[in-house]
Amino acid sequence: MAHRALTLKYRPQVFADLIGQDHVSSVLARALESGRVAHAFLFTGARGVGKTTSARILAKALNCEKRAAGVHKSADPCNACTSCVEITTGVSLDVVEIDGASNRGIDDVQNLREKVRFAPTRGRYRIVIIDEVHQLSKDAFAALLKTLEEPPAHLVFIFATTDPQKLPDDPLAHAALRLRARGAAQGGRPAARDPEARGRRRRGRAVHAHRRRGAPDRTQGRGLDA
Ligand SMILES: Nc1ncnc2c1ncn2[C@@H]1O[C@H](COP(=O)(O)OP(=O)(O)OP(=O)(O)O)[C@@H](O)[C@H]1O
Ligand SMILES: [Mg+2]
Ligand SMILES: [Zn+2]
Repeated sequence: MAHRALTLKYRPQVFADLIGQDHVSSVLARALESGRVAHAFLFTGARGVGKTTSARILAKALNCEKRAAGVHKSADPCNACTSCVEITTGVSLDVVEIDGASNRGIDDVQNLREKVRFAPTRGRYRIVIIDEVHQLSKDAFAALLKTLEEPPAHLVFIFATTDPQKLPDDPLAHAALRLRARGAAQGGRPAARDPEARGRRRRGRAVHAHRRRGAPDRTQGRGLDA
């Protein structure tokens, strides 16, 4: 149950609670509010700057039932509907979270592709979060890119890596909306609830979101009218 325990530990649950990542938050909020979302996102940044946290908030916002129904008019997830609660507690069938370091083979990616072929069970999307995606093997990468080239309409990938320069040929950067979170104390996992650490981070952290030059603007592609 270690996984559950990790999932349940304190994490910011709305974009506004992500300290020092305003630029990332606002890019995501704009995409969500405009109703146009990319099929793949790539979060890069040092350990503990909030990549996994951002990925989960984004996943919840994408699948939030109250947002979809138009009763929660914000980019943030409502954190109260069944979909939001299931994602927060780590039991959503529509959100698959895997660690690229321990699932790095071609078989792992093929299993994953098999799992996400079908329509989501509850939410609007099936969302695959792959942590440390640079650790995937070459073959696994190739298989993943095949899916990225022609993603089913219901599929959204959220990749995270501390080491984007290790991505082979950087193909993900071309396929994904890339968001880079940069911490002042690179390598330091922030103590989110320590007010002093918060202050330090607020002052020291700059966040950038940019699209690779020449990369297609996938946010303008298939729409999401949530
Ligand atoms: N920007 C932030 N604002 C508030 N809390 C944060 C922020 N970033 C991280 N935290 C806190 O730090 C903890 C670690 O964050 P998270 O797991 O999202 O980082 P990460 O970038 O995915 O790290 P890793 O590279 O180790 O996977 C979380 O529990 C979260 O509460
Ligand atoms: Mg993480
Ligand atoms: Zn919700």
